[in-house]
Amino acid sequence: MIDTVTALDELRSRVRAWKRDGLRVGFVPTMGNLHAGHHSLVALARQHADRIVASVFVNPTQFGPNEDFARYPRTPDADAAGLDAVGCDVLWLPSVDAMYPYGADGAVRMRVPGITDVLEGAHRPGHFDGVCTVVARLFNQVQPDVAAFGRKDYQQLAVIRYMTRDLAFPIELLAGETLREADGLAMSSRNQYLSAEERPVAALIQRSLQRMRDGLLAGAARGAVEAEARATLDAAGFEVDYAVVRAPDLVDPDASPGPRVALVAARLGRTRLIDNLEFTTA
Ligand code: PAJ
Repeated sequence: MIDTVTALDELRSRVRAWKRDGLRVGFVPTMGNLHAGHHSLVALARQHADRIVASVFVNPTQFGPNEDFARYPRTPDADAAGLDAVGCDVLWLPSVDAMYPYGADGAVRMRVPGITDVLEGAHRPGHFDGVCTVVARLFNQVQPDVAAFGRKDYQQLAVIRYMTRDLAFPIELLAGETLREADGLAMSSRNQYLSAEERPVAALIQRSLQRMRDGLLAGAARGAVEAEARATLDAAGFEVDYAVVRAPDLVDPDASPGPRVALVAARLGRTRLIDNLEFTTA
C-alpha cells in the first residue's frame, strides 16, 4: 500500500533508510490529477530505481496572475489510488508552507537564462522560474538518484536539464514519451476543461504538428509550414500562441539538417493546450 507523507522529516527518514539499504530512489514530480501519462513516468522510473516517490503539489509560483491556479483540478484520493496501482512507494504531499517557508513571495527564485525567453517562456512570463523554483526544492527534499519528466512538456524538460547540470544535482534525468488519447490528443489534466464540442477539435493540434513535419520532410520552407499550421488552427477556432519548428535548443530555427521539434501552444475556449512532435530532417 502506498504511504502518503506530508512532513519533510518523515520523507527524509524514509529515503535515508532506503539508501542505507543500497536501494536506488526514483522520483516523479507532478501537480496531481494524474492520468496514464503520469503513471507511465512512474513505470519508467521503476525501470531505473528500486523505490519510487511521486509528489503532488499544485505550485503557485509557476502560474501567472490570470492563469488557472485556483481551478486547477485537485483529486487527491484518486491520485493516491492510481499511484498505488502502478507501484509507487511514497506519495509526497507537501503543504504550501512546507514548500515555501518564507511564503511564495519570499521564496529564493531560480532563473534559467536563454531558453526560457522563447515560446512558453515568452507567453507565460515567470512560468519557468516557478517551475525551477519548485523542482530544485523537490530535488533537495526527495534527493532521488533518478527523476522522470515527460516529453510532452518539451521546453520544461530542456529547462530542467539545464538547471540540473548547471547546479550539479547528482540526479539522472529520464524522459518519458507522450501518452495520447485515441485521436492523438496529448493526455493532460487540462483536457477536462474542454467542452463536448471542443474536445474533437482539440485533436487538430497533433494533426497540424504532423503536417508541419510532413511538409518539411517533403521540402517545403519552414515559414510556409508554420504559416499553414497557424492558419488551419485559427480557422478551427483556436487562438494560437505559437506553431513553429525549431532545432532542439529551441532558439535557432534554421540550423543545418538534423533533429527538429514542431511545437504548438493554442487556446481553445478557455483551455490552453500544448503539444510537440520530434523528428529528423536529412
Ligand atoms: P504536471 O503537468 O502534473 O506533469 C507532471 C509530469 O507529467 C511532467 O513531467 C509532464 O511532462 C508529464 N506529463 C504530462 N502529460 C503527459 C503525457 N500525456 N504523457 C507523458 N507525460 C506527461 O509538469 C508539471 O506537472 C509541473 O510543471 C512540475 C514539473 C511538477 C513542477 O511543478
